[in-house]
Amino acid sequence: MKLQGKTILLTGGTDGIGLRLARQLRGKDGSLIVTGRTPDRIAAAEGEGFAVIPADLASPAGIEAVMTGLNGRAIDVLINNAGMGAAHDYRLGAPDPLDD
Ligand SMILES: NC(=O)c1ccc[n+]([C@@H]2O[C@H](COP(=O)([O-])OP(=O)(O)OC[C@H]3O[C@@H](n4cnc5c(N)ncnc54)[C@H](OP(=O)(O)O)[C@@H]3O)[C@@H](O)[C@H]2O)c1
Repeated sequence: MKLQGKTILLTGGTDGIGLRLARQLRGKDGSLIVTGRTPDRIAAAEGEGFAVIPADLASPAGIEAVMTGLNGRAIDVLINNAGMGAAHDYRLGAPDPLDD
């Protein structure tokens, strides 16, 4: 995929798979913006040279923060990676979202 000149928004780019992906995308000559929410991880990502928009995407305020941080820039590629994993056996019924 040619990413030269493209603006890429990668959510959850401050840790885990997202951070590894961000490091891969860095060499692709596009403009990469990542989001994250934990301050020390944001600082570490910025320390690596990434442009970070701090935002908790589980809240309307976080969505607003992303829109504000983009400052009208159009996004060519959205990698909607932010999230968490949880193991659940759906045969046992719907999971309780408040259950860790
Ligand atoms: N790891 C796996 O085996 C696996 C398998 C299947 C699917 N996935 C999916 O792949 C994605 C990444 O998984 P991962 O293992 O790399 O997770 P991870 O190490 O926990 O990293 C998740 C990233 O998303 C961010 N994030 C989480 N919740 C957020 C929220 N509400 N608002 C903003 N940012 C948020 C985290 O930021 P903070 O660090 O600031 O919280 C972090 O940068 C997730 O969507 C997960 O469901 C993972």
